[in-house]
Order: sequence, then C-alpha cells, then structure tokens
Amino acid sequence: MAKYRIAVIPGDGIGKEVMDEGIRVLEVAGARYGIEFQWDHFDWSCELYKQTGRMMPEDGLDQIADHDAIFLGAVGFPGVPDHVSLWGLLIPIRRHFRQYINLRPVRLLHGVFSPLANRSPGEIDFYIVRENNEGEYSEIGGRLYAGTDEEVAVQESIFTRKGVDRALKYAFELAQQRHRKHVTSATKSNGIIHTMPYWDERFEEMAKAYPDVTTDKFHIDILTAHFVRNPDWFDVVVGSNLFGDILSDLGPAATGTIGIAPSANLNPEKEYPSMFEPVHGSAPDIAGKGIANPIGQIWSGAMMLDHLGETDAARLVERAFETVLAESEVRTPDMGGNATTQEFGYAIAESAARMSL
Ligand code: NAD
Ligand code: IPM
Ligand code: MN
Repeated sequence: MAKYRIAVIPGDGIGKEVMDEGIRVLEVAGARYGIEFQWDHFDWSCELYKQTGRMMPEDGLDQIADHDAIFLGAVGFPGVPDHVSLWGLLIPIRRHFRQYINLRPVRLLHGVFSPLANRSPGEIDFYIVRENNEGEYSEIGGRLYAGTDEEVAVQESIFTRKGVDRALKYAFELAQQRHRKHVTSATKSNGIIHTMPYWDERFEEMAKAYPDVTTDKFHIDILTAHFVRNPDWFDVVVGSNLFGDILSDLGPAATGTIGIAPSANLNPEKEYPSMFEPVHGSAPDIAGKGIANPIGQIWSGAMMLDHLGETDAARLVERAFETVLAESEVRTPDMGGNATTQEFGYAIAESAARMSL
C-alpha cells in the first residue's frame, strides 16, 4: 500500500473551510486505489502571527522539508498586512523548496456557465506556466525620504538566465505533450525595456530547441483582451511571476469562477516537496459563511496525486467533480447554486466513491 506524508496548512479564512473538503475527497480516492495518507496539520496562519509574531515557527521549513507534498489552503487576512503574512509563509515555502514553476490549468467544465458568450467546453482548455521564484516579486528595493514630499519607493525585478530558461523549458516540454503543441509568451518588451526584451530573447532562443512547438507572443495588455475575446487561441501560456499571477485569475474567471482554479507549485526535479493550493485567497468577504467553492482545493489535490505518480486516483478526483457539475445542480453560490461548501464537498466525495474504475 502506497503511503504519503502530507503537510497540511489550511491557513486563513476560507482556506480552513475548503481544506476539509479537499482531504475528504482525497481520502475517498485513496481508499479506492490503496493509497494511505498521513495528514500532518500545521496551524500556520495570521492567527498564529497575532499570538507569536510569526506566521510559522523559526524552524517551520525544516518541519515540512521531509514531507512528500504540501497541501495549502490560503494565506492572508485583514489585521495582518499582506506583505507580512505572505512573505512570512507562502513565498518562503515557494522559494526555499525551489518551487520555480506555478502550473495553473484553465478549463471550462461541462455544466458550468462561462461569462464569455457562446463558449463551450473544449474551447477553453489551456495551462498557465508561471515563473514562481523571481521576476517582479523581489525583496530588492526600499523607500527613501519617508514622510516627505520627496518620498520614493523603489522595487527591483530580477530575471536570471537560469530562472527564465527553466520556466520556458517547462512550458515547451508541457506543450510537446499536448495535442496542439503551442506556446504563447506573455511579454511587455515595448514598455519594460530591460527585463522584458531579455525575456523575449530567451523565449526565441528556447523555441529553437523545440521545432515541433509553434509559438507566438503578446504584450500583457492585449493578452488580457485575447483571454476574453479569443480564449480558444491558447494551449500553454508562459509568463513571469506577476504576469502569470494576473493571467491566472483572469483565465479561471472566464471559465465561470476563480473558486474552481487549482495550482501546483512545482519543484520538477523533486529534490524538495512541491506545494498544491487553490489559486484563490482567503476570501475575507465570505469567510465563516460556509459557502466557499471547494473545487479549487479538490482539483489541487488531484494535481498533488498526479505529482505523486498516482495518476489513476488523480483522474478519479477530476471525474468526480466533473460528474457532479455535469449531472447535478449541486454547486456553491459563486456558480449560481445554493449548496454549502460541505454539501458540495460531500457530493463530490460520494461521486468519487460511486465512480466506476
Ligand atoms: P480572494 O481570492 O481571496 O477573493 C477574491 C474574490 O473571489 C472574493 O470576492 C471572494 O469571495 C471570491 N472567492 C475567492 N475564492 C472563492 C471560493 N473558493 N469560492 C467562492 N468565492 C471565492 O482574493 P483577495 O480578496 O484579493 O485576497 C484576500 C486575501 O487572500 C489577501 O490577504 C490576499 O493576499 C490573500 N491571497 C492569498 C492567496 C494564496 O494563499 N495563495 C491567493 C490570493 C490572495
Ligand atoms: C497567488 C497569490 C499570491 C501571489 C499572493 C497572495 C502573494 O495571489 O498565489 O496567486 O501573488 O503569488
Ligand atoms: Mn494570485
């Protein structure tokens, strides 16, 4: 029997609500495929910060380093500044464990309404490959002349050859495995005159090694417009840390709701644990109401199973939520239904339990 140790960090707000449903569905899939999970819970959160002045203990990263994977809900809540909570927990995990790819699928599912007119499943089905360790997210910079009329804030961006190339390489290799074999690069080399022309150069260089993959590139501004008007153009979209972040809220919104969007923070070499979490945040506006959509967490669980090599169990989890959406009215309010987080989670777990293998 395969056994995995998973570090569970529910975090803040709805992270704590959707995590229960993610675990519930993975338990069912695990039981059907002879997989045992050891769920080790860590209460790292803004609440912990308020008690201890830290988002996680000083040796927190060591505590989770030997786990097979990290399953995270969401981090950040009013009361603790976002740059403090995120740079105290989520971002250190991504960086310390060299999770340099953030893989975010965007897929219109059967039974789900897209806010885009006349779009059906199959027409929106692509991956965003987001560089996850450097780029616009950097600690280099600072403030000068605080509180005066001359006040300045400076924020540097870091694009290393190694960091850019490994993200591009991942995107091309992913495209090679897909039917359309197409990579789109998100750029802004008309306005950002150092880093983005460099990104373009590396993209063109990398493309030469993959003659079977077709390419195009768009500046980020018009690319957001194409996501809305022409989502069927995309197969694999590769972008820097910030561009990938923005595109990965827009893409899922075009497929109905950000509440279903999953993500995998990957260390592809598997030298360190990878982390699986929904794309969405802690949603303070609905936290505590029990109405958060759990699919983002559940689908992230499927990506975790894939990463662990449990591909049959991963497909079972995906088929379970696809079936509930396609064949029932059960869904949370963000998808036009009136189910609670738990009711939706139970329906998906039951679907996973009944599904023919
Ligand atoms: P958010 O994703 O938390 O919420 C944006 C909107 O989407 C809200 O109206 C919310 O109700 C809705 N929403 C999000 N997830 C949903 C779900 N599962 N079901 C139904 N509706 C859902 O973004 P925000 O408001 O910008 O951020 C809130 C906090 O979360 C901030 O502290 C932010 O920094 C943090 N955050 C964390 C992560 C993460 O942990 N990876 C990601 C994004 C934001
Ligand atoms: C995400 C989030 C984070 C990011 C924030 C909370 C730091 O928006 O995972 O998409 O920008 O990476
Ligand atoms: Mn984001």
